[in-house]
Amino acid sequence: MPWEAWSKTLADTRGYIRGTVRSRRAGTSFDFAVVEAATREVVGCAGLNFVMKDRVHSRASIGYWIRSDRTGRGYATEATVLLLVFAFGSLGLERVEIRVAPRNARSLRIPEKLGVRYEGTARASERVRGRFLDHRVYALTAGDFRRLWPRWKRWLSHGASSRG
Ligand SMILES: CC(C)(COP(=O)(O)OP(=O)(O)OC[C@H]1O[C@@H](n2cnc3c(N)ncnc32)[C@H](O)[C@@H]1OP(=O)(O)O)[C@@H](O)C(=O)NCCC(=O)NCCS
Repeated sequence: MPWEAWSKTLADTRGYIRGTVRSRRAGTSFDFAVVEAATREVVGCAGLNFVMKDRVHSRASIGYWIRSDRTGRGYATEATVLLLVFAFGSLGLERVEIRVAPRNARSLRIPEKLGVRYEGTARASERVRGRFLDHRVYALTAGDFRRLWPRWKRWLSHGASSRG
């Protein structure tokens, strides 16, 4: 993936996993494997990153990716809802962002179909292949989550993604 261009070997992957363990201990990122129920295979990753929880801040940002041969099955959307439950429930955060490059149509669909509010464009937000890209910023507050959760809960209990 363009933003993980450094990661090519098994050693890189091990290093990445060790990094996620360190971040989890530090409370700055919580990364999860997305496992397909039918096959028990790891088909992607989803995480709560840039977690800031102190006297002043109470926020984080969501990131996700799904193996290219398993996209279009609702896995990223389901993982996003579960991360939001973790963020607002277990961590008690006040705000969670989903930032997406404007040309990433598939990823944009995720906050849009969940009804997450679009707040605006953060310019020059991330460097990818040597160029700074803008991000569309979608965000929920804890109050938004409480309002949207009943709808998502029904969706999850009706099977959510196809689950392979
Ligand atoms: C973006 C990404 C996470 C989506 O994962 P996913 O599990 O396919 O997502 P979902 O199935 O939950 O839904 C995403 C939307 O994209 C559409 N989509 C997914 N794969 C598609 C494909 N191959 N062709 C066309 N549309 C596709 C889905 O139909 C869905 O829209 P809809 O509900 O209106 O039909 C995945 O494509 C990916 O990992 N991309 C590369 C990494 C990336 O861009 N991460 C996000 C950074 S912000």
